[in-house]
Amino acid sequence: MHAALAGPLLAALLATARARPQPPDAGQCRPPGSQRDLNSFLWTIRRDPPAYLFGTIHVPYTRVWDFIPDNSKAAFQASARVYFELDLTDPYTISALASCQLLPHGENLQDVLPRELYWRLKRHLDYVKLMMPSWMTPAQRGKGLYADYLFNAIAGNWERKRPVWVMLMVNSLTETDVRSRGVPVLDLYLAQRAEKMKKSTGAVERVEEQCHPLNGLNFSQVLFALNQTLLQHESVRAGSLQAPYTTEDLIKHYNCGDLNAVIFNHDTSQLPNFINTTLPPHEQVTAQEIDSYFRQELIYKRNERMGKRVMTLLQENEDKICFFAFGAGHFLGNNTVIDVLRQAGLEVEHTPAGQTIRRLEAA
Ligand SMILES: *[C@@H]1O[C@H](CO)[C@@H](O)[C@H](O)[C@H]1NC(C)=O
Ligand SMILES: *[C@@H]1O[C@H](CO)[C@@H](O)[C@H](O)[C@H]1NC(C)=O
Ligand SMILES: *[C@@H]1O[C@H](CO)[C@@H](O)[C@H](O)[C@H]1NC(C)=O
Ligand SMILES: *[C@@H]1O[C@H](CO)[C@@H](O)[C@H](O)[C@H]1NC(C)=O
Repeated sequence: MHAALAGPLLAALLATARARPQPPDAGQCRPPGSQRDLNSFLWTIRRDPPAYLFGTIHVPYTRVWDFIPDNSKAAFQASARVYFELDLTDPYTISALASCQLLPHGENLQDVLPRELYWRLKRHLDYVKLMMPSWMTPAQRGKGLYADYLFNAIAGNWERKRPVWVMLMVNSLTETDVRSRGVPVLDLYLAQRAEKMKKSTGAVERVEEQCHPLNGLNFSQVLFALNQTLLQHESVRAGSLQAPYTTEDLIKHYNCGDLNAVIFNHDTSQLPNFINTTLPPHEQVTAQEIDSYFRQELIYKRNERMGKRVMTLLQENEDKICFFAFGAGHFLGNNTVIDVLRQAGLEVEHTPAGQTIRRLEAA
């Protein structure tokens, strides 16, 4: 798996979010009883033939697959065209994402970060490198994954990356996240399946459209976010804070959370939850500003654009069943992709688990 995409993609940046202690099985839900009890992230766009919207999550697919309703899988199966946010199977996507994350003009992190912050970062990454072998699972070793290789895949070249990407990288270097490497994430898995099934695939966004908004955070905001992220991980290292199971939380919400209460969004990066208790009032303000910046730039603006592209693709593929698989966060909350489509006059309905979908041959 490629480093740039190996981390959980995206954005649940809650300015006052919590790093509360949790039981180690935080990501576990009860196994599904009947189909009807499952969460459904499927919506049907009424037309003939129909089109589908499906909310994915950027975690190993094995952690969520059994919780995805059969009718969602049937809709995928029936579709002739499958569209993602980005085309994760295209080498160009991978290299464009990697270069978008680099500092400009061949700069080095040491040149741009305050000295103290740089050394704390380096110390933390040295620690991660040291711990990596003990974090890996026997199953990972069985697949021939080595700690050095994994570390380089995720953190190699970190001195050349923009601070915002280093921050996201640090967040994906926890024990629980490292232990789940090596299995394709759900969105990538669907893309691989679609290819195997000879479906035609595509993307609704360009790499820059995901990457540039992150790079647009201003320097003082980035320093703040990186500092907070490091503080959090340093506390975990010092044993004064339980590791925040951000990814586990996401999985649990996806598998058995209340859809209306779900406030996760997710894309190319997992944004950190800042420790609330340590924030003095003026830092609370900064955290709020970062939060609304991301909400606006990474969610609302993109939803608008994604909705428009969906409409274009539907027009170009009037006679084909289309399946749009985007991060679940783009379908939940305010100003969603669904809202954009409805405002344009399309009929979009949530499709609960257990409801039969119209069976049509994939054209
Ligand atoms: C960054 O943005 C915040 C909020 O818009 C602003 O208060 C601050 O002055 C900006 N800092 C820099 C270095 O531009
Ligand atoms: C990091 O944050 C702490 C606590 O909010 C603050 O005291 C410290 O000055 C910050 N360091 C940098 C480099 O911004
Ligand atoms: C921080 O979060 C904890 C746990 O959710 C909560 O008990 C506490 O009241 C919060 N503190 C502040 C200052 O918001
Ligand atoms: C959604 O919009 C409502 C009304 O404007 C607002 O109260 C709420 O906080 C928004 N939710 C999010 C997640 O932004």
